Amino acid sequence: MASHTLVSGIRATGELHIGNYYGALKGISLLQHQFDCYFFIADLHALTTHPNPKQLSNGVIGVARDYLAAGLDPERSIFFAQSSIAAELGELHTYLSMVMPLGELLRCPTFKEKAKKHPDNVNYGLVGYPVLMTADILAHRGTIVQVGEDQLVHLEMARSIVRRFNQQYGAFLPEPQPLPDNAVKVPSLTGQGKMSKSDPVETYISLKDEPERIQAKLKKAYSDPLRVYRDQPGHPTADGCNVYQLHTFFTEEDVRRAMADRCLKAEIGCVACKAKLAESIEQLVEPFRQQRERLSDREVMHILAAGGQKARESAQRVISEVRAAMGLLMV
Ligand code: ADP
Ligand code: TRP
Repeated sequence: MASHTLVSGIRATGELHIGNYYGALKGISLLQHQFDCYFFIADLHALTTHPNPKQLSNGVIGVARDYLAAGLDPERSIFFAQSSIAAELGELHTYLSMVMPLGELLRCPTFKEKAKKHPDNVNYGLVGYPVLMTADILAHRGTIVQVGEDQLVHLEMARSIVRRFNQQYGAFLPEPQPLPDNAVKVPSLTGQGKMSKSDPVETYISLKDEPERIQAKLKKAYSDPLRVYRDQPGHPTADGCNVYQLHTFFTEEDVRRAMADRCLKAEIGCVACKAKLAESIEQLVEPFRQQRERLSDREVMHILAAGGQKARESAQRVISEVRAAMGLLMV
């Protein structure tokens, strides 16, 4: 798979959490050896729901630090802020928007969800979200996309946009595929839907959280609704207990199985089980705390600027092809 190009982005909308780790950061060191990688911080996509200027610029630096702490090597991968190539993406977005029916964008479940959640801010950018995402991928002729389960619907739309474009213009742009086995969904600590940094801080575990904070958040986490008393047996399955489901991501299988056995016999209670989960999560989060302050803000900005330059060159090559296919004059 050496000739594949991987594209992945994370919105700069707050502190990254352990769900983002699974959806977008896991295995970066390895992926960089397998593919030509483009990793970026989606600050333009962040504007659809998080328009606070100060938080946005801090968010970009924060996400960049987490990417670097996860093992991103800017010498190997192209690493940039999405807005560094805003002109190129805006141009591609305009072209792609001409082949995508509005009805399909309005029916997109994530659009409907956001419109319901923020009825006072149903902006035009929110409707075009999947089109801009397609531009992000096509700008580098991306063939593989690393995202969590919640983004697969957007990737499917990206594939449909590329197919329509190729059909209409006789072009050969690649249809992007999801990175195999990556479509996971780490649940929220409330047990309702996926963990998300747009939700209140008590509902997710940030990669910045200290051990005491992880423990405190887990103490309040939703677990097994049918287990009311300590001496009742629990239901350690993905559907039966949210804490068990979280264990499946963070605790080694043999330890998890042994705990599930004891839970079934009411030999272990939720307090001890959550304490073990806190330990497992701490093992993942601790290196992030150590690594993320390694570089100064200036160094991070410098890395992003250099990546932005390379990303621009790549996007401009694709735009020339797209313009030619559409019959736009090169004058
Ligand atoms: P959030 O919803 O927390 O703001 P983003 O939309 O910025 O997250 O997502 C960044 C990446 O992390 C995407 O690839 C997304 O699929 C992934 N991701 C987000 N939340 C989760 C989760 N709970 N489980 C797995 N992957 C996730
Ligand atoms: N929409 C993605 C999210 O919310 C972020 C993103 C934007 C992205 N453009 C992308 C991910 C292109 C992969 C490829 O998580």
